[in-house]
Amino acid sequence: MKTEKIDVLLGLQWGDEGKGKVVDVLTPRYDVVARFQGGPNAGHTLIFDDKKFVLKSIPSGVFQGNKQNIIGNGMVLDAALFKAEAESLEAAGIDLKNRLLISKKAHLILPTHRLMDSALEASKGSNKVGTTGRGIGPTYTDKVARTGVRVGDLLRPDFEERYAAARAAHERTLKSLNFEYDLAPLEKAWREGIEYMKQFKFVDSEHYVANLLSEGKTILCEGAQGTMLDIDFGSYPFVTSSNTICAGACTGLGVAPRNIGKVYGIMKAYCTRVGSGPFPTELFDKDGEALSDRGHEFGAVTGRRRRCGWVDLVALRYAVRLNGVTDLILMKSDVLDTFPTIKACVAYKLPDGTQTDEFPFDCEGVEPIYEELPGWKTDLTKVQDEDEFPEEFNNYITFLEEYLETPVSIVSVGPDRHQTIVREK
Ligand code: GDP
Ligand code: IMO
Ligand code: MG
Repeated sequence: MKTEKIDVLLGLQWGDEGKGKVVDVLTPRYDVVARFQGGPNAGHTLIFDDKKFVLKSIPSGVFQGNKQNIIGNGMVLDAALFKAEAESLEAAGIDLKNRLLISKKAHLILPTHRLMDSALEASKGSNKVGTTGRGIGPTYTDKVARTGVRVGDLLRPDFEERYAAARAAHERTLKSLNFEYDLAPLEKAWREGIEYMKQFKFVDSEHYVANLLSEGKTILCEGAQGTMLDIDFGSYPFVTSSNTICAGACTGLGVAPRNIGKVYGIMKAYCTRVGSGPFPTELFDKDGEALSDRGHEFGAVTGRRRRCGWVDLVALRYAVRLNGVTDLILMKSDVLDTFPTIKACVAYKLPDGTQTDEFPFDCEGVEPIYEELPGWKTDLTKVQDEDEFPEEFNNYITFLEEYLETPVSIVSVGPDRHQTIVREK
């Protein structure tokens, strides 16, 4: 199968679709893997050889072959968390120093950004976003306000002044919110993180990527979060603070749209969401509990229980269009193995009684309209070839493909690297 120079893999729902697992599976096809947005709000789980890794800021291409991995300019990095993550990988025998490159233009999450995240959430009362508490919003806010501190600034002689100016501004906000905090231990860990980070190669990733392309090298871009958490198109304000859609790969890595080939859109066979915000197909019944239990739906970063519901094709078609998805990847199909019937939301009933299959500006009060399909009542976890798929499962896949007008190229039937069935020709 043909690989374009830059392919993108990104989440179509509210995150946690299984991006880490599939990036790891696809890594052997590429020379380089790159993250382009988000930061340690992400938690990407990989399971192989009975080992489990959860990656937060480091791309999921570090386990297969000696591939290069890039932390792109669109990302935000917490030096203390980066150090902990990188050291745990190094302890597991993964060499990083020679093949993990960090963009000088990525923004630094400062200790006070994390405090601001908590303080701002606390000040919102019942309107909390339910953030991961990693300082993501305040760091991107500073980036857009042109008051941020970047990785490349660590090497400048005036770094301490830049840091002090940002910290002072944040402390004024924290005081105005009457937020109590102890900065010293956070700052100590962060400074240790910075010294550690300086051992890595800081690059102008846009030049680096351009050179890779001119050498004919191939790159897989790994999205974080999901389309419905995109700052522009997600369920605002219950979103993250970056562009999670395909366009984010262009701005977050410095690549031109015409260099993008395949866009892999990854989705669960059902749907989950962590944190606050609308979720039209959310279930509060036994089916929701079964999805949560069978899917082990607990956040990889915060451990919070994920909200669960049926697959939402209205939101998914919106996501497919926004991203120009060329290939769908269907995850966690095995979680539905025991259900006698499976529902899929094909339209919304709006509060005024009308129906739509276009994702609306406001999801408040929308009711899902479902189509019901027969379940397959078969254990999919041992299936190794699509010829073994039960008829009902094939029908479910075809139903998704037809509604979303996009082929399902990869099917995942369990968390392990090997529980993956590639259908693309
Ligand atoms: P990401 O953030 O998109 O990388 O996804 P997460 O790692 O946060 O969440 C996905 C979870 O589902 C992880 O615990 C994976 O180990 C698990 N997982 C991935 N694919 C499958 C699958 O096909 N079946 C099952 N049962 N679990 C899966
Ligand atoms: P991965 O990459 C699921 C959610 C948070 C919250 C909102 C804003 O593992 O799929 P933030 O800390 O970004 O300001 O929080 O976004 N969120 C995620 N939900 N998966 C993620 O990442 C997420 N990253 C952020 O729960 O609702
Ligand atoms: Mg996750």
